[in-house]
Formats: sequence, C-alpha cells, structure tokens
Amino acid sequence: MKRGEKVVLALMAVMVVSVMLRNVWVNSHDTEKDRGIPFYTTASPELTRQASELYRQQQCRECHSLWSVRNIMESVPAPALDGIGSLRDEAWFYQYFSAPNPQAILPSRLKPQYRMPSYAALTDDERHTLARYMASLKVEDWYLADTRKAEYEKLTGKDYHP
Ligand code: HEC
Repeated sequence: MKRGEKVVLALMAVMVVSVMLRNVWVNSHDTEKDRGIPFYTTASPELTRQASELYRQQQCRECHSLWSVRNIMESVPAPALDGIGSLRDEAWFYQYFSAPNPQAILPSRLKPQYRMPSYAALTDDERHTLARYMASLKVEDWYLADTRKAEYEKLTGKDYHP
C-alpha cells in the first residue's frame, strides 16, 4: 500500500469510529425515545367494550382520532381524543355530550358541518358511558404539556403560548 492510501484509510477509520461513538452517546442520552407511547386508559374492559361500540355507531372517528386510528377520509380538524381525560373531567364530558348546542360550552372555529354534533338524543346511560370512557383516556405527565398544546392549536387554529 502506498503511503497516501494508508493515510486515506486511517482517516476513514477515524470517521467511522467517531460516527459509531456519537450514535452510542446519542442513544444513551435520548431518554425521550425510550419512554414509549404516553397514552393509556384506566377503563375496565367492559366500559371499553361498551364505549367503543357507541364510538363506532356514532361515527366519532369520522372526525376524531383515537389510539392513532384515523379515518383515511378524515378531513375535519377536530382535536385528537388521546389523553383528553387528563385535560377535562367526566362531568364536563357528560354536560358536553348532553348539550343541545355543544358550541355554547366549547366554541368552534369551523364551518357548521364540521362542528361537534349534539349527542343529546342518546340515552342518559349512553352519554354517561361515553363521558366515563373519555375521562379514562389519560396521558403520562411527561406528555401532558404537548397534549394540551396540540388540543389548543386544533381548537383555536392559533399558536399556543402558555
Ligand atoms: C362532524 C365531526 C364530529 C363528530 C362526528 C364528532 N365530533 Fe367531537 N368534536 C368535533 C369538533 C370539530 C370538536 C371541536 C369543537 C368544535 O369545533 O365544535 C369536537 C370536540 C369534541 C370533544 C372535546 C375535545 C376537547 O378538546 O376538549 C370531545 C370529548 C369529543 N368531541 C368527543 C366526540 C365523541 C365521543 C364523538 C362521537 C360520539 C364525537 N366527538 C363526534 C367534531 C366531531
């Protein structure tokens, strides 16, 4: 091997090793990546079953995403419901679903056809089931601020400045 070639090979080896060391360092310091999915539910299997059935029947996912399941045709910029039970409580959800005009409780920036419909026509039991399930949709503390920011921006169309 010529001297020049040795120098080039040595330089390449140094580069490869430094990239490897950098990756090891980044991976061991990036705890965010290891935290996993921040959303969870405290609902019993029975509540989950009943609520999911209503959720499907009432076509909530035409507009909302939950557990990252999105309707591919979805065009409504409604807030995601993952973690929503860490932002509001069961009594609020029950009132909201029972209101003849939900926008009196939570104003909308959208055209009427995209707004949250009234579910006042559901039975009392059904509204309680949905409210209880929404309240069970929690987010880990480390992702709470991000969830609040995303919700605010969806609702208002403005940047969030806490
Ligand atoms: C036609 C689209 C549409 C459908 C269907 C719909 N929503 Fe909504 N929902 C919205 C929009 C948009 C908002 C935000 C407020 C607004 O613009 O009216 C909202 C708001 C909400 C909120 C409050 C979110 C927050 O940020 O606090 C909850 C909870 C909710 N919806 C749950 C449901 C459930 C449960 C169903 C099914 C029973 C459902 N939605 C069906 C469009 C929809």
